[in-house]
Amino acid sequence: MLQFGHIGYGIRPSSRRRGLATWALGRILDEARTLGLDRVLIVCETDNLASVKMIEHQGGILDDVRDSEHGPVRRCWIKI
Ligand SMILES: CC(C)(COP(=O)(O)OP(=O)(O)OC[C@H]1O[C@@H](n2cnc3c(N)ncnc32)[C@H](O)[C@@H]1OP(=O)(O)O)[C@@H](O)C(=O)NCCC(=O)NCCS
Repeated sequence: MLQFGHIGYGIRPSSRRRGLATWALGRILDEARTLGLDRVLIVCETDNLASVKMIEHQGGILDDVRDSEHGPVRRCWIKI
């Protein structure tokens, strides 16, 4: 699980760029906190600018960039 992170997400195309993913990630972090986690790993492709931004908006800190079968991916931890 940790290779690809704790959290995955997708917003249907017609509803993108309205802040939904950033908001939803915040709610999932609330849920993770209630489960007792103190940090979560989120992984996204380096060229997925929307994902990079929303992870940073929610406090994500870049740990490293690794090669994957999908190309280079950013591994970010969010403290919760
Ligand atoms: C990534 C994804 C979930 C973002 O959803 P969203 O609801 O559009 O995201 P938000 O509206 O919260 O936007 C987050 C930030 O990314 C920016 N952004 C959104 N789409 C963008 C795009 N295509 N290119 C560049 N920036 C983009 C927004 O402007 C916002 O930045 P800002 O607050 O500085 O203006 C959505 O694009 C998606 O479902 N993509 C396909 C699946 C996917 O890539 N999942 C992630 C796998 S790691």
